[in-house]
Amino acid sequence: MLKWWQKAIVYQVYPKSFQDTTGTGTGDIKGITSRLDYLKALGVGAVWLCPVYPSSNVDNGYDISDYTGINPAFGTMKDFDELIAEADKRGIKIVMDLVFNHTSDRHEWFLQSKQDRTNPKADWYIWRDAKPDGSVPTNWRGIFGGSAWEWCRERGQYYLHTFAKEQPDLNWENPDVRRALYDAANFWLDKGVGGFRIDAITYIKKPSEFLDGKPDGKEGTINIHLMTANTPGILDFLREFRREVFDGHDIFTVGEANGVSADELPDWVGANGVFNMLFEFSHVDLPLNESEIWCYPVKWTLRDLKHALSSSQHATARNGWCPVFFENHDQPRSVNHFFPEGADTQKAAKVLAAVLLTLRGTPFIYQGQELGMSNVSWPDINTYDDISTKGQYAFALNEGFSPEEAMKFVHYFSRDNARTPMQWDNSPNAGFSTARSWLPVNENYITVNARTEEQNPDSVLSWYRRLAEFRRNHEELTAGDYREIMTDSEEVFAFERMLDGRRIITAANFSLESAMLPEEFAEYDLLLSSESDAEGLVMRPLEARIMLQYIKTISSIKESLS
Ligand code: NOJ
Repeated sequence: MLKWWQKAIVYQVYPKSFQDTTGTGTGDIKGITSRLDYLKALGVGAVWLCPVYPSSNVDNGYDISDYTGINPAFGTMKDFDELIAEADKRGIKIVMDLVFNHTSDRHEWFLQSKQDRTNPKADWYIWRDAKPDGSVPTNWRGIFGGSAWEWCRERGQYYLHTFAKEQPDLNWENPDVRRALYDAANFWLDKGVGGFRIDAITYIKKPSEFLDGKPDGKEGTINIHLMTANTPGILDFLREFRREVFDGHDIFTVGEANGVSADELPDWVGANGVFNMLFEFSHVDLPLNESEIWCYPVKWTLRDLKHALSSSQHATARNGWCPVFFENHDQPRSVNHFFPEGADTQKAAKVLAAVLLTLRGTPFIYQGQELGMSNVSWPDINTYDDISTKGQYAFALNEGFSPEEAMKFVHYFSRDNARTPMQWDNSPNAGFSTARSWLPVNENYITVNARTEEQNPDSVLSWYRRLAEFRRNHEELTAGDYREIMTDSEEVFAFERMLDGRRIITAANFSLESAMLPEEFAEYDLLLSSESDAEGLVMRPLEARIMLQYIKTISSIKESLS
């Protein structure tokens, strides 16, 4: 029997950019509530809310200063309760983002911890002395660039931060820290949330010894990820977390697990695993080297993408479950990410939608993906807000790239590509706000927007709605097995989902050329195509088809005779 969240479609909301109701240019909780009917019409069963807690916004909410509060810029706890209640009326659950690897440097725990070496919270964070020559304890580079260590004058020590210096890492070895975090999570369970997305969870366990690593660039530093991600012993913490918080609740949990490979998934999400699902990044990370440095991108082909997707499908086929996603608030827009330059973004969006909604697993749609929203490419680095964009730009300059070259990497990879305001209609500021928005609106909002697309049966949004309904009505897509077909094709990603003698086949042409389907496809019933006049065995460039084949099994023959 599948659980509710295995059949649901999850929609990710980036609150700052979703809907402003107060004319501040920044989205808010009431804005999300006001759009619940839109989400319902899309077939959404759960909304993952990026952090809405009090924060200094150095990393847009991922630097939290109070785990059980609401950021006044987003509204009040009453607004939040109302969101839960209104969502509930529509059969939609609200899923919170737990950011437990680090807090904000304004969190009262850190303010206390930094005061001296003897206060009650002195070892709630990760403190180390300088090397004998006074330099940083190790050569680890934070994920946003610069040293992962920051000097604290009061204690005369360094503290560790995997991300920005304003995001000090918590010391999970301390049981009081873990207790405080579990209490915070339970607070939200008591409010009736439907689950958790757990941020940066692979970094919570640190190695027993802190050693320098082999530098991965001219700077002499190494990405901390390569030194601390998925350290042995981490699963003990997570088993406790599960026992103390998740067990016994009808919720789902999805861990953000950069550093866990497909073959390790069973330990994390199997019957004895710690989460229900894990975000595994091998498919979205294809253009990145292992240090995730933007200025040294890696070439990849559709075969690599197919391989990455099939690997995570196989890893969870008999054990566990997986989320299916192509976008989130840290990724470029998928229509730019996975297709050749010059691809028609609306067609590309439909191709990915067909894959997203027919693979095995829970589909996650990131806001605006259902409209085919695309990347921006602002000429000036100062227009960008994202802290990692700034870090990567500075790193590229350091490596000797020109500002123009460095901007090309920014245009391709920047997280702000996904963070521009939601495009609701073609009025000023795209219907997102009555004021100038905190981040510029993508200029294509005049044509790419929810209202226009709602009126066009051929739009990306209409295609998403059709696919969502199709998914609801075809159990093969939730409960069926997965098998990749046409594995050698360089243009088409095709797979089947099989249940009780019925086989649903998805074929998605990712290329800008026509592609030939194998002869046997001629016998299948064409159920859906992203092109209105699809027929025969030749697929148009950027076309997606969904087909059906009945397989004559002994039981189906018996059934037809009876
Ligand atoms: C992963 C989040 O998705 C990202 O937005 C954030 O910057 C880091 N974790 C740090 O919390």
